[in-house]
Amino acid sequence: MKGFVPTPRSTVDEMVARLFISRPPRAGDSVLDPGCGTGEFIDGVLRWCKRHDVPLPQITGVESDSRHLSALRKKYQHIPAVNIEHRDFLTEFAGSYDFIVGNPPYVPITALSEEEKTRYRKLYSTARGRFDLYILFFEQALRSLAPQGRLVFITPEKYLYVDTAAPLRDLLATHHVEEIHLLSEDTFGDLVTYPMITVLSKSTSGTTHVQRRDGTTTTIKVAGADSWLPLIDPNTHDGASATLADLCLRISCGIATGADGVFVRAADSLDPNLKRFAYPTMAGRQLTPETTELPRRSVMLTPYDSYGRLLPIEELGALGTYLSQSVNRIQLLGRTCVRYKPWYAFHETPLLPDILRPKILCKDICERPRFWIDQTGTVLPRHSLYYLVPRNPATIGILADFLASPPAQDWLNRNCQRASKGYLRLQSKVLQRLPVPREVVRSVLGNEASWPVQPHTPTADLFANL
Ligand SMILES: C[S@@+](CC[C@H](N)C(=O)[O-])C[C@H]1O[C@@H](n2cnc3c(N)ncnc32)[C@H](O)[C@@H]1O
Repeated sequence: MKGFVPTPRSTVDEMVARLFISRPPRAGDSVLDPGCGTGEFIDGVLRWCKRHDVPLPQITGVESDSRHLSALRKKYQHIPAVNIEHRDFLTEFAGSYDFIVGNPPYVPITALSEEEKTRYRKLYSTARGRFDLYILFFEQALRSLAPQGRLVFITPEKYLYVDTAAPLRDLLATHHVEEIHLLSEDTFGDLVTYPMITVLSKSTSGTTHVQRRDGTTTTIKVAGADSWLPLIDPNTHDGASATLADLCLRISCGIATGADGVFVRAADSLDPNLKRFAYPTMAGRQLTPETTELPRRSVMLTPYDSYGRLLPIEELGALGTYLSQSVNRIQLLGRTCVRYKPWYAFHETPLLPDILRPKILCKDICERPRFWIDQTGTVLPRHSLYYLVPRNPATIGILADFLASPPAQDWLNRNCQRASKGYLRLQSKVLQRLPVPREVVRSVLGNEASWPVQPHTPTADLFANL
């Protein structure tokens, strides 16, 4: 089901309340839910009208996925005000509506066929660069909105700052974006989307009320294609033009073996026959504010080749013998992962071609964010460390300096979740979103002409460049 993610009821109710905040719907009015899925927003409108004792407007749900249709039609068969249309919202005429509310599909360009990409590029001025379907839903919804109409969408927050969404920002700014509400990242449960609600009326201008994720508010005047992030959060670096994820090949949690007691050994007493399988390794607790040089007291015995492929046990020689010793074998067999993996594999397959590169390390839980450089690219971080692999190893120092700078530290302090005792939890999903100011991007890329950064090269090819 392309882009199907149902919206939680409380969020739906909040959005419908905003839709009707300036005036309730009247009997002749029309409401559209494009990409209605299982009808969450239709239900929200029905609830709102019942609660406020107002007559039902005409409610249209458009859905292209035939798998939803019979359930939708059955659900609303006794409510004549609800009309379900089975059509493609992006390619078929959409009509004109007084209110539009919904959760458009989040479908990246990589999930579209060549034919779809070409068609959308012809039809939409916002289909630029690496666009996503929710961007096109905005454009089509604006075309379908009556002159005094109102629109409320929940989408990823990314359109506020990514270069790809510059045409959408330009388009939205020609209307009145009344409200931007950045929602908690767990709004959709485990699916991390950094959602936001946009409330827009078709009239031409006005200020925008912003509610940030930390509950603070501000009023801004959105203007055109440039990133809106510096307006929303003046503490973000002026002119932020990329996120840390754009400049890194990978930002991930370190290796989980599921049995460090077996795989991690002291470096100084290691059997020389095991050395060819050993990489220096460290855990978060080994890094302290005083650490200037990465400790190399421990090694991780790794039954994988440098492409990250698990070696057959018979090719492991001394390591195979060591792992097969009954004390080790019993421990390895006690792990849940052996239900679906060879008994001597790590709990998670290590992405060695990415990890064995110059990288920046940081602890998963810390009093304040600190970063260490593994210039040699040989260290295997354990699960209590995160690692950031810059796309260009030559820029590792620039990125590490930026991460240590007050604006980056301040942003992390405000955006990371808290562990106990006020400690910060540095998760990869937060690190990935860290806005990087234009001047840092410029230094990393050498010149601005090469912006935006090209998509990630497949790992196997990268390894060939090492
Ligand atoms: C993110 S889901 C939202 C579902 C529902 N509105 C909700 O919030 O619970 C997006 C929906 O859009 C539908 N969809 C995707 N592309 C579409 C298109 N081109 N035209 C109409 N519906 C589409 C998907 O099938 C999916 O049901």
